[in-house]
Amino acid sequence: MTASPDGSASGKVPNDLGPFWMPFTANRQYKANPRLLVSAEGVYYTSHDGRKILDGQAGLWCVNAGHAHKKIVEAVQKQIAKLDFAPTFNMGHPLPFELAGQLAALTPGDLDHVFFCNSGSEAVDTALKIALAYHRARGEGTRTRFIGRERGYHGVGFGGIAVGGMVGNRKAFGNSLISTDHLPHTHSLKDMAFSQGQPEWGAHLADELERIIALHDASNIAAVIVEPVAGSTGVLVPPKGYLEKLRAITQKHGILLIFDEVITGFGRLGKSFAAEYFNIIPDLMTVAKGITNGVIPMGAVFARDMVHDAIVTGPEGAIELFHGYTYSGHPVACAASLATLEVYREEGLFERAAKNAVKWQKLVHELKDDKLADLRNLGMMGAIEFKPREGAPGARGYEAFLHCYENGLLVRFGPDVLSLTPPLTISESELDFMFSTLRNAIKAVK
Ligand SMILES: Cc1ncc(COP(=O)(O)O)c(C=O)c1O
Repeated sequence: MTASPDGSASGKVPNDLGPFWMPFTANRQYKANPRLLVSAEGVYYTSHDGRKILDGQAGLWCVNAGHAHKKIVEAVQKQIAKLDFAPTFNMGHPLPFELAGQLAALTPGDLDHVFFCNSGSEAVDTALKIALAYHRARGEGTRTRFIGRERGYHGVGFGGIAVGGMVGNRKAFGNSLISTDHLPHTHSLKDMAFSQGQPEWGAHLADELERIIALHDASNIAAVIVEPVAGSTGVLVPPKGYLEKLRAITQKHGILLIFDEVITGFGRLGKSFAAEYFNIIPDLMTVAKGITNGVIPMGAVFARDMVHDAIVTGPEGAIELFHGYTYSGHPVACAASLATLEVYREEGLFERAAKNAVKWQKLVHELKDDKLADLRNLGMMGAIEFKPREGAPGARGYEAFLHCYENGLLVRFGPDVLSLTPPLTISESELDFMFSTLRNAIKAVK
């Protein structure tokens, strides 16, 4: 049904946009005014109408090393020709072993055991299952409840939406399949608007965890899961001291702490992981996206020694964890990830992000304007929050997004927030272009 066999590559809009039911998209609105990306290199996309678009959202928070990196492309091409697929159930191939070793060396503390999957959603569901299996293996099988957080995003599996706290992602899907409770989110415009980096206000919100634990009793709670910096809800930066409190309280009650680092992992904050940035070791950590620079789907869960060792025990020859995916440790994804890690190392991209984060903070806060409710930043993450227009919430965000796109910049929007996360390879002059385009968009919206 496309205009040509390679309709997208030719730059033409396919004739029939109907059959592709687009994810997390206003399908009818989009299809009335389609925006197609047909190629990519470095920090730029090319649109179907032949324009260069600066990628201010790193694909979807994943292309940290820039698009079509030669080293990663060649590694994928070579691997697919050598070993396209091999199972990892009771069989193996060398790559996931090599990759797990390199990842373990990159993680802080003893987060040294790596379970591979194919996405962030799968990583979250895997981590929740590992938490349950851990407590059961230790004879504390009553610990089955999970504590998430309002405005949290943990993917779209049933586990992920149960612990997640974004109403739109939950309301159409009935009661959650697992028992949960939720911490309050940490965002208060009244107390922290326009904070540079971590807000001073809000550490006390972690004390709510004590109240929730008292309500359910610690003996019924398996784990607390949070994004160290909440990404999808519009970049909510944790108040100073907040994550430290969560760590102390979970530890005191024998509850596991899971950091969902699907966005914050692999350099976004100028360190390998947010856990390293904040100097807090969670018991489990979920990653995806930047693990392969977004080129091949892959996710992973990192587990500390005590979690792994409690489960990987029992009779010789018995499977210890009845969990896994056909594509866990897929050879092509592993090759992409190994090449990606090499690029991160060789090009010093985490250090580069740390250095650019200083200029980034300044650029974000120079956008201050009467139409804005907030500007926030940490590492190479940032957000612009509009005051909603009277009677039309979300309109300013969408209009600003469109203005940017028409002027050569792609950023995420929703509803009245623009989220900013460019590839870590972005140069100073590209940053200047990005922020002058944003400034014009803020001026242009009514
Ligand atoms: C923190 C977090 N967890 C989980 C996910 C889900 O990842 P995926 O879309 O790969 O399933 C995302 C996706 O943005 C995320 O930001």
